[in-house]
Amino acid sequence: MDPVICSFSLPFRYAVHFTHGAFQPSNPLVRDLVAEQKPRRILVAMEENVAFKNPQLPRAAADYLAAAGVPASVHVLPGGEAAKESAAVVRELHRAMEAEKLCRHSCVAAIGGGAFLDVAGFAAATLHRGIPLLRFPSTLLAQADAGVGVKNGINFAGKKNLVGTFAPPRAVVNDLDLLATLPTRERRAGLSEAVKVGLIRDAAFFEWIEAAAEPLREGNAAEIETLVRRCAALHIAHIATGGDPFEKGSRRPLDFGHWAAHKLEQMSAFRLRHGEAVAIGIALDSVYAARTGDLSRAELERILGTLQRLGLPLFAPELRCAEELLGGLDEFREHLGGELCVTLLRGIGRAWEVHAMDPGGIRAAIGEREAREARR
Ligand SMILES: NC(=O)c1ccc[n+]([C@@H]2O[C@H](COP(=O)([O-])OP(=O)(O)OC[C@H]3O[C@@H](n4cnc5c(N)ncnc54)[C@H](O)[C@@H]3O)[C@@H](O)[C@H]2O)c1
Ligand SMILES: [Zn+2]
Repeated sequence: MDPVICSFSLPFRYAVHFTHGAFQPSNPLVRDLVAEQKPRRILVAMEENVAFKNPQLPRAAADYLAAAGVPASVHVLPGGEAAKESAAVVRELHRAMEAEKLCRHSCVAAIGGGAFLDVAGFAAATLHRGIPLLRFPSTLLAQADAGVGVKNGINFAGKKNLVGTFAPPRAVVNDLDLLATLPTRERRAGLSEAVKVGLIRDAAFFEWIEAAAEPLREGNAAEIETLVRRCAALHIAHIATGGDPFEKGSRRPLDFGHWAAHKLEQMSAFRLRHGEAVAIGIALDSVYAARTGDLSRAELERILGTLQRLGLPLFAPELRCAEELLGGLDEFREHLGGELCVTLLRGIGRAWEVHAMDPGGIRAAIGEREAREARR
């Protein structure tokens, strides 16, 4: 018998906005977004640390949304990687959304770092099989990368992002004022994703970062704003035009440096921030590429020097446990769900993909990094 075919496609479209003081009464952006989306009610899920550092923000958000004519409630919840390590915060959010009687015509406005947005996005995507989501990323890394894409998730069975969904937001509001309270270490950690995307996609962007490394390290607002915009735009361009927004294939071209980074985060019990682990992963894979002759030594020096001048770490003691680290390649392959696909460099701004990495070459690259670190 012939099968009955079910075939349809859904268009997705959302904007990533850049603004200052999103909940100041004089700022029309969120009011306009709400008027466009017309949610019945909004649950604002705000990360604890953001509310703690901006004590006026919960009230300001509630007042702003009330003035925009939408019933709104603000819930303050824990964030950071710990919130991804169990389902507790997801459950807490589900309970809050149910208590507020949210439906698919409502909206969750999530304000927080990349980890909190992953948790809140997962909770929103799963209640009633999907509540519309507005994201307000509050870290540099989240504004430039984690908060602008289509994924969410929590960690499970010792693996990052093992449980999650693809769920594009209705809009992203990058309020650059939120970055003012970010600790220096967190701000710097976010810079590594910009280095990453410049190295694999946009040599001119890398060169700009290289030239602006000192002001970026010191958190100069103008340079940070330029970096956030360009980095977010490059990530969005990849999702929108890369041909695989929901990552059905095994290619993950934006995950340069990430096979080692994800493993190092776990091995350090998350002492290393995601962005710091990415910097170490970029350094390691760049040394590997220089040792195979794909990347010139001069380009390697520029990459390592730029990461260093940005105040990012290039080494962690976990690298010494090479065998455990190498397990990260297998986990990366499992995560891709098929063939191993690792992005490596052939030059600055020139990436290519390999389907195997030589364990001996990785050990040698670790050795080279360690020897260099010992001389610093
Ligand atoms: N979904 C995706 O596509 C995607 C992509 C990349 C990374 N990620 C995930 O993002 C997470 C990393 O995100 P992150 O770097 O933003 O870290 P994070 O969310 O852990 O935040 C870092 C720290 O900053 C605090 N914080 C957040 N906003 C603040 C503010 N405005 N002022 C002061 N403190 C603030 C947080 O409480 C936390 O302690 C990882 O879990 C990573 O896996 C997700
Ligand atoms: Zn990353």
